[in-house]
Amino acid sequence: MAKKSSKNTAAQAVEIAEKPVEVKPEPAAEIRVAPKKKILFVASEAAPFIATGGLAEVIGSLSKAIARSDDYDVRVIIPLYQDIRKEYRKDFRYIGNLYVPLAWRNQYCGIFEYRADRVTYYFVDNEYYFKRSGCYGYYDDGERFAFFCRSVMEILGFIGFYPDVLHCHDWQAALAAIYLKTIYCHRPEYQFIRAVFTIHNIEYQGQYSLDILGDLFGLSEHDRHFVEYDHCINLMKGAIEVCEAFSTVSPSYAQEIKDPFYAHGLDPIIRRNEFKLTGILNGIDPDYYDPATDPALFANYSAEDPENKRICKEELQKMLGLPVKPDTPIIAMISRLVGHKGLDLVRAVIEDALREDIQFIVLGTGDSAYEAFFIDLARKYQGKVVSVISFNADLSRKIYSGADIFLMPSKSEPCGLSQMISSRYGAVALVRETGGLKDSITPYGAGGNGFTFNRYNAHDMLYVIGEAIGVYHMKDEWARLVKKAMETDFSWSVSAKYYEGLYLSVLK
Ligand code: GLC
Repeated sequence: MAKKSSKNTAAQAVEIAEKPVEVKPEPAAEIRVAPKKKILFVASEAAPFIATGGLAEVIGSLSKAIARSDDYDVRVIIPLYQDIRKEYRKDFRYIGNLYVPLAWRNQYCGIFEYRADRVTYYFVDNEYYFKRSGCYGYYDDGERFAFFCRSVMEILGFIGFYPDVLHCHDWQAALAAIYLKTIYCHRPEYQFIRAVFTIHNIEYQGQYSLDILGDLFGLSEHDRHFVEYDHCINLMKGAIEVCEAFSTVSPSYAQEIKDPFYAHGLDPIIRRNEFKLTGILNGIDPDYYDPATDPALFANYSAEDPENKRICKEELQKMLGLPVKPDTPIIAMISRLVGHKGLDLVRAVIEDALREDIQFIVLGTGDSAYEAFFIDLARKYQGKVVSVISFNADLSRKIYSGADIFLMPSKSEPCGLSQMISSRYGAVALVRETGGLKDSITPYGAGGNGFTFNRYNAHDMLYVIGEAIGVYHMKDEWARLVKKAMETDFSWSVSAKYYEGLYLSVLK
């Protein structure tokens, strides 16, 4: 039997529209607004309050990006370190205190709150653990972050905020997920909280002697199997085991950590839990890193109007005591001076590169052997090489804006933010194809936004440095490449959606 056609013709549509529309007020009870999804970020640092590296920037900018959506209530919790910036601290609001059980201890825990950009931040106060300079590097870091994680669990009850997703970052927050799934999951309010764990760097896993399982971490023998690995307690491993999903900060790194070359011993655990692993590329905050408005720069410029970048270069050369040479490419590195940043490649061939007419600037601190190497290099090549052994945010922005080529030859790089910042400031990135470097920088030869090399080999890097210098001297071509780098979208707009997808997948 033929069905009656229900096609709407244009004429029908007009007829329908012209009928008076009957407006029936809906009873209030029937208007339903979907509840916001509650996300709690647990981390050991967050910009702008305290930052020792990329983790803090990601916590600061990702939380803001997700909170922009009306569907999410995003909160962040970190320790109240002594070094939290004063200009923020004075506006923190004290909301109460409680005592937190940690094995046989019972420790004071004050809670402070601060709101900005639709995100609520909580700060965990305990002077015994956190009134020290810096964030890490103390003999009792295990105990300090165990206290922090146990406090997070207790604070949820105290403030009556039970998140849908507890999103823990790196080993310092791993115990929050572990406590949730061992000690707290039996309590009705905690029962439906899902745990997501993000690895920002697999090198730091939180490894401790098994002797302190109960005495310090307050875990029972029954739960030992979650955290035990390689005859130690391994907190990162524990979080991977208990969480509903885990992620890394770039898709390539998610693949790489299945391989022993990158995994620092955790590859069997990663492979076994691969079914719940995703890689999501970090973004940067494009307003915070904007050469058009950045007050740290000698002059402001943009992709549309890059002229003033010349001033930034000239002033940088003057400031660092380099000859002012507008047509000599400046190659810069801003990096922690540690092994996995690829510094042995630089050490092997930088003197070959310095035969060319270039200037080379290094900014960073780290292993004393690398610091000494760069200090010696600057002494030997005065007027060509400048090494600034310090952590200096203001100078870093002046270098991003004044440099032409930004070198980042990492042996491994979970994501890396500097290559994105440098691109945005028109310092074309030259990177090794690993982790997030591979996912954010594509080779010039293939129409991309930078220069890349694949093998961890000093002469491969040297060859590409030569290529970059060659392109630099083709004025129009270089200007096009700089524009392309500056226009690449490194904002959170895409990646924040992937995180939302990840949250929805664990909430199903
Ligand atoms: C770690 C990683 C770095 C990443 C950052 C933020 O510091 O080493 O590659 O960009 O975390 O996720």
